[in-house]
Amino acid sequence: MHLYGTQSVDEKGQLIIGGTSAVTLSKTYGTPLYVYDTALIKERARAFIQTFKRASVQAQVAYASKAFSSIAMYQLADEEGLSLDVVSGGELYTAIRANFPVERIHFHGNNKSDEELIFALDSGIGCIVVDNFYEIEQLKRLTALKGKNVNILLRVTPGIEAHTHDYITTGQADSKFGFDLNNGQADQAFQSVIDDQHICLLGMHCHIGSQIFDSAAFSLAAKKLIFKMLSWKKQFDFTCPVLNLGGGFGIRYTEEDKPLLPETYVEDMIKSIQSEIRHNDYPMPEIWIEPGRSLVGDAGTTLYTIGSQKEVPGVKKYLAVDGGMSDNIRPALYQAKYDAVVANKMSASSTTTYTVAGKCCESGDKLIEEISLPSVEAGDTLAVFCTGAYGYSMASNYNRLPRPAVIFVEEGKHRLVIKRETYEDIVRLDCSLHDKVLGE
Ligand code: LLP
Repeated sequence: MHLYGTQSVDEKGQLIIGGTSAVTLSKTYGTPLYVYDTALIKERARAFIQTFKRASVQAQVAYASKAFSSIAMYQLADEEGLSLDVVSGGELYTAIRANFPVERIHFHGNNKSDEELIFALDSGIGCIVVDNFYEIEQLKRLTALKGKNVNILLRVTPGIEAHTHDYITTGQADSKFGFDLNNGQADQAFQSVIDDQHICLLGMHCHIGSQIFDSAAFSLAAKKLIFKMLSWKKQFDFTCPVLNLGGGFGIRYTEEDKPLLPETYVEDMIKSIQSEIRHNDYPMPEIWIEPGRSLVGDAGTTLYTIGSQKEVPGVKKYLAVDGGMSDNIRPALYQAKYDAVVANKMSASSTTTYTVAGKCCESGDKLIEEISLPSVEAGDTLAVFCTGAYGYSMASNYNRLPRPAVIFVEEGKHRLVIKRETYEDIVRLDCSLHDKVLGE
């Protein structure tokens, strides 16, 4: 059995996370419950940041907060010295409500609205990652209107698609994001911003994929971007102060996944950038990265209470939990695989193969297709590991299920960071058919 972060098993055979038993947590806060082991989040943040420091490389490690966005998480990211990647007015608003230093916030997105850009400019955003020509026009117009200056990166697609163990290089990337690096779009974007009096170009950004286990993919991306940086230096005497290589560092969901350490991803990245830079006598840029999943993914565990069971004789045994695709859409959406344990029966041997189903009205609402567990009964606590990234942030109210609570645990202390939704919350935005009609 693989345990994560501070997880252990006590003498009663119960799963302990952050010094408290999962059963106590589920009794205290109810289930489903997202539990974050904050010591592990800190360990990861420090590993990324310290590796740059040790190599004396100027860097920003920006937490890709789409993985899990909340006020407390942003406060924790700030305490750890992380920067922040936000992708919407809503994430930016949450960051501002968390008092996150705005100068360390980077604003992404392929279709930012005028309202979102004005909000970012008025807040004094650290950097906008510009995605397309429409956005360049928006920014020119809005910065002139407001008389404000803004730092930008140009998001480019280098023609590398990386996923897990493989990556492919393509002449032209079929992506909705960014300026193509190979067909002249990136050069055209460069030329249209470089003389603007309000826009300050810091360099380029790329994000090549998710769950990447091979650091060579990042090195290749770096190489392609540096090649373009060199051409801008030669042609326009422009030096990029920043090179942002995005996120996508893989984590272990199941035993099939064999991620590298954060230190290794960063060391390999630094090595290949330094070798390209030195070889070409170019000043070392600041390196920015954007880990999301690798900061919070395996620090998160979802606790569920097991309810009904159904056996399809000769086929399979279902056990049903009190959540499902409403709190974790990833199995249904991406066929994502998860590992789980029975948190109150950690010492019992696994004798039965179950399919873990959720409670949503959809046959596809299965969290785990096949898992070997001790024999379970109603009331047992199922702990599904590695749900910290894209779990809560992609949760829904499908079937009008209230979204679960989120807690942080560390050294025997636990705190609520997002309250469980109530039925009242569920109807909060509904309007009655008996309200006044407009248009008469
Ligand atoms: N930077 C950019 C520009 C991104 O688009 C992303 C993720 C990241 C950083 C962070 O990637 P990470 O380190 O977390 O892999 N919902 C999907 C993942 C979508 C990722 C989108 N972009 C999932 O649940 O797997």
